[in-house]
Amino acid sequence: MTNELETERLLLRPMTAGDVESHIAMMQEPAVAQFLTPEHKPRSRAEEWRAVASVLGHWQIRGYGWFSVFEKETGAWAGRVGPWMPEGWPGLECGWSISSRCWGKGYAPEAAVATVRWTFDRFPELSRIISVIDPDNVNSQAVAKKIGEAKSGEVFEFWGSKLEIWAADREAWLSRFGSI
Ligand SMILES: CC(C)(COP(=O)(O)OP(=O)(O)OC[C@H]1O[C@@H](n2cnc3c(N)ncnc32)[C@H](O)[C@@H]1OP(=O)(O)O)[C@@H](O)C(=O)NCCC(=O)NCCS
Repeated sequence: MTNELETERLLLRPMTAGDVESHIAMMQEPAVAQFLTPEHKPRSRAEEWRAVASVLGHWQIRGYGWFSVFEKETGAWAGRVGPWMPEGWPGLECGWSISSRCWGKGYAPEAAVATVRWTFDRFPELSRIISVIDPDNVNSQAVAKKIGEAKSGEVFEFWGSKLEIWAADREAWLSRFGSI
């Protein structure tokens, strides 16, 4: 099973050490950090270095994790999308974050569909995929809707916020978006 994914406009592969600076730069954008840090604003480079180290470590420990997303047209790093389940997480999540210069092109949903398909293929016993989203993060909710997720009614408390769990059931998702 390949870890290199291709969509109409994007190439995806597991994040590597070479992507660390791009990831830190994205996380230091206020618009991106708003819903991704406990303070709702960018953190220091040192804190973001530690955070991205855990992204690379997630691949080592779990054997899966966030993919780096590259624009085919320019070759530029555009963000990170994919499966995520650190210790204590409420389920296997598909997460997404895109550099703000690339927002509004539908990259997050395009990449998310590819990684959810990859995740369901990788884990045949997985009955649903979730996304954990702040109730005020309307951009992320738009992505969840586009990839066939709906609010489950469950709430997950993290960093002092009550986050909503969006979810899609395996069979319904695969019949809508197709398997590998
Ligand atoms: C959520 C996010 C990944 C969406 O990525 P994207 O590739 O722009 O996704 P889309 O193009 O499908 O846009 C999704 C929504 O974002 C909003 N949006 C799009 N372009 C925008 C822009 N330039 N400025 C502000 N909002 C914009 C729109 O509401 C859009 O929904 P619509 O297509 O129904 O109008 C991106 O906004 C992001 O990285 N946000 C910060 C990190 C984050 O919050 N991640 C999710 C944590 S749960």
